[in-house]
Amino acid sequence: MGDTAKIGIGGSTVELPVLKGTAGPDVVDIRKLYSGADVFTYDPGFTSTASCESKITFIDGDQGILLHRGYPIDQLAEKSSFLEVCYLLLHGELPTAAEYAEFEHNITYHTMVHEQFDRFFQGFRRDAHPMAIMVGAVGALSAFYHDSTNIDDPEQRMISAHRMIAKIPTIAARAYKYSLGQPFVYPRNDCSYAENFLRMCFSVPAEDWKPNPVLTRAMDRIFILHADHEQNASTSTVRLAGSSGANPFACIAAGIASLWGPKHGGANEEALNMLKEIGTVENIPDFVKGVKNRERLLMGFGHRVYKNYDPRAKVMQTTCHEVLAAVGHSNDPLLKVAMELEKIALSDEFFIERKLYPNVDFYSGITLRALGFPPEMFTVLFALARTVGWIAQWKEMIEDPSQKIGRPRQLYTGAPQRDYVAVEKR
Ligand code: SDX
Repeated sequence: MGDTAKIGIGGSTVELPVLKGTAGPDVVDIRKLYSGADVFTYDPGFTSTASCESKITFIDGDQGILLHRGYPIDQLAEKSSFLEVCYLLLHGELPTAAEYAEFEHNITYHTMVHEQFDRFFQGFRRDAHPMAIMVGAVGALSAFYHDSTNIDDPEQRMISAHRMIAKIPTIAARAYKYSLGQPFVYPRNDCSYAENFLRMCFSVPAEDWKPNPVLTRAMDRIFILHADHEQNASTSTVRLAGSSGANPFACIAAGIASLWGPKHGGANEEALNMLKEIGTVENIPDFVKGVKNRERLLMGFGHRVYKNYDPRAKVMQTTCHEVLAAVGHSNDPLLKVAMELEKIALSDEFFIERKLYPNVDFYSGITLRALGFPPEMFTVLFALARTVGWIAQWKEMIEDPSQKIGRPRQLYTGAPQRDYVAVEKR
């Protein structure tokens, strides 16, 4: 018998197994706690709770390490491509050249959406937030693919994964074009994944669109940085929705809804708005005072898991400089504000004792703006990239023999049982 944890409560003791993983903290398996001691554990926000076993991503928050199937994020960002990372997340190993070619072909030849699908966009106001459009449009996909909704069939699960990864850029670009009142652009099979997306967003019928390899590479790298991140709020949402056997496209729509929140994927849009509000380096001290007085958060800083520098933020900062140089904005005043704000925050006791470091969202806003996207599209790009993480985690959950429908319990502090009182006696 391996290690165990003993919980003495109400005069009795329950002995629970301790499970060890490849890396990270051991876990106390509490599945028998309620039956053994008639008590629940209590952990709002799941700060000390492992919701599942997973082999996909590992984060060491103290060391600032992020691994996808064991490969460090900085190596993948430098040496891999987003589609290769998609294959890695789905299959667990880096593909051979032949495996990659087949995977890339599968994705490329699923990038179009049903012509009838485009009508969904007409129902939105032109000024609708693109994330509202994404939630609705991706949810609508579940009405189209009845040939891949048997989630118990591994072949259909993989087809759903390919369709989701392939179509999400097309849908995201449509959400953007719709907000501009510009015509939708069809994907092209002779473009790479990132190039196709940039082309669907920025090309217009009135002139030829010329790809910029530096910007295409930066976009691809930004997708890699956002691909997956353990059991974050939106991934946990997808897993919980999927645990009931719901349609995979509908589960991804639920993940998009969760990601939209300003404390999660919405932080990149909020971080840029914060930098714009600060405006100049001279205004930083006053702003930081407001943060310390709990009047507001330092958007793009802090993380539930990283209590060190988010390794993605480092790569994002490098990418930010590359993109700004490529578009001729090396002197972007917001970059100056961001770098000075980071320097001040990293040396200020308030942030140090709370272990608040820049996260992936801090530099992404400046970078995405330089790529030509408006702030309301930033979280859409996050959702586009995170779709592979969501679908890989959903697939892992469905294939986990121990998975059950997620059904947490609670600590009830409401009224004790009481009898109904007629209105005339209240
Ligand atoms: C993402 O989970 C993931 O993996 C998410 C993500 C992914 O890839 O999926 O990494 C993507 O969501 C990154 C995080 C983006 N969010 C932001 O940048 C928004 C600003 N950050 C905060 O909202 C906050 O840091 C969270 C939500 C990210 C984490 O919050 P926690 O873990 O619940 O920590 P906490 O709120 O308990 O904070 C601890 C202390 C508190 O101070 P005290 O009350 O103890 O004195 O730090 C303070 C907080 O007030 N604090 C901040 C702060 N973040 C935390 N104070 C000012 N500014 C901040 N940004």
